[in-house]
Amino acid sequence: MQKDHFEVKSQTWDAGSERVHSTKTISEAILENFILHKEMDILDFGVGTGLLGFEIAQHVQKVYGVDTSKSMLEKLREKNTEMLSIEAIHQDIIQTPLLQSFDGLISSMTLHHVEDLHAFFTTIKNNIKENGFIAIADLESEDGTFHSDNEGVFHFGFDKNTLCALVAECGFKEVAFERINTIQKPHRDFGVFLLRATNA
Ligand SMILES: C[S@@+](CC[C@H](N)C(=O)[O-])C[C@H]1O[C@@H](n2cnc3c(N)ncnc32)[C@H](O)[C@@H]1O
Repeated sequence: MQKDHFEVKSQTWDAGSERVHSTKTISEAILENFILHKEMDILDFGVGTGLLGFEIAQHVQKVYGVDTSKSMLEKLREKNTEMLSIEAIHQDIIQTPLLQSFDGLISSMTLHHVEDLHAFFTTIKNNIKENGFIAIADLESEDGTFHSDNEGVFHFGFDKNTLCALVAECGFKEVAFERINTIQKPHRDFGVFLLRATNA
């Protein structure tokens, strides 16, 4: 298991109002693009403290959240209630794939932490049911100044054409990439995209 780069950040993760707002725009975009229902099991890849996962959990049967950071998952578990909860899984699912299949995979701001994207997309394809979907939000190409510290960051955002081509090459269909938000920082703006595809 890789180092927990979020040990310190996890303590104040949910206090970032821009982050909470940005995650809300991601959940709204997912809800606009996919019809979710109470029989669906959804996997949140890089669930963190559950900012996205808890929004989606209200619309489906169950959200399973995987993350390689123990500290982020501890914060998530503190937020679980009897009414609304996420099943937290501390596992590197690229190294040790899950055996379960899901109706969809969601993810917010985690893809740039994944070194081998080909391994990621081919692995998770096996965890998505036929006609299931992926909905992955992350940064558009940036200049490396989004994070104050780039430890654990393998990609400075993503180029639309390169990412869509890779996802299609890994076997997904109906690949779409759309800007859904802009994060404003004092020195510049950063585009956030939602990548959608189906396992048809
Ligand atoms: C920027 S945070 C985003 C957290 C949450 N999705 C959100 O939007 O608030 C990235 C998360 O991805 C997790 N992560 C990084 N690499 C991962 C991997 N290979 N597998 C699972 N989780 C990973 C980190 O531990 C962290 O919790």
